[in-house]
Amino acid sequence: MNFNNKTALVTGAANGIGKAIAHQLGQLGAQLILVDRSEAVFQVAEQLKNDNVRVEAVICDLSNEDHIDHLWEDVKARYEKVDVLVNSAGIIKRQPISETSTFDFEKTMSINVMSVFQMSKHAVALMTKHGGGKIINFGSLLSFLGGFHAVAYSSSKGAIAQLTKSFSNEYAKHNIQVNAVAPGYIETDMNTDLKADAKRSVEVSERIPAERWGTPEDVAKVVCFLASDLSDYVTGTIIPVDGGVLAR
Ligand SMILES: NC(=O)c1ccc[n+]([C@@H]2O[C@H](COP(=O)([O-])OP(=O)(O)OC[C@H]3O[C@@H](n4cnc5c(N)ncnc54)[C@H](O)[C@@H]3O)[C@@H](O)[C@H]2O)c1
Repeated sequence: MNFNNKTALVTGAANGIGKAIAHQLGQLGAQLILVDRSEAVFQVAEQLKNDNVRVEAVICDLSNEDHIDHLWEDVKARYEKVDVLVNSAGIIKRQPISETSTFDFEKTMSINVMSVFQMSKHAVALMTKHGGGKIINFGSLLSFLGGFHAVAYSSSKGAIAQLTKSFSNEYAKHNIQVNAVAPGYIETDMNTDLKADAKRSVEVSERIPAERWGTPEDVAKVVCFLASDLSDYVTGTIIPVDGGVLAR
């Protein structure tokens, strides 16, 4: 895999899986645009610069469409092309349906789905002009299962599976491959509360055939495959990266 002469934009790059993707794509030669609402994204960029990666960090609140529009105006003015878009940013609020407000539901949909739609729409407009590209979205086990105490999150990740297929259908002929990964239980800040819950943590671990939680790097490797030309005839798929949980 080689990303020399490729530019990749990664959202949610300040933390967790997005950060691991930035490191792996950077090591493989990509020029990077790292996007997050957290200023920690600047530290990630500094680390990568020390490893001679060409990288820029941008603060952007992906729940705000104006921020997204400005981001892409800037990107188009300063970069010749964007070859890869990784939509990794996402949120979860675990709570029963009875305690889930319309505000919570809309906020989750706004970041987990609407921003992916808006970011991807900008990306395909640019990629179409430059001969193609790759978009990698983030589903979840809850793209396939309903889950418990995560109605907004599972609704958003179900939508991501369909959004991925819709974009894939319309843009395959433009040499743009659109796929999603569906991570299982990955050790990131998103699961700090789950890991800290002694009972739930054991229950989760017992469900994983691989007998370990995933790491951000486990997911990043599959994202790199989907971002590379090794996957040029793969589009419209949702690939579980879950240590075998869905196959149980
Ligand atoms: N960790 C898991 O077990 C797991 C499982 C399935 C799916 N996923 C998905 O993987 C993706 C990455 O998750 P993670 O575990 O790395 O989470 P994380 O919480 O470690 O990182 C998410 C990043 O998204 C950023 N972000 C959140 N809202 C934003 C906004 N409005 N604007 C800009 N940036 C924003 C955060 O600042 C953070 O840096 C998410 O889409 C998540 O739903 C994770």
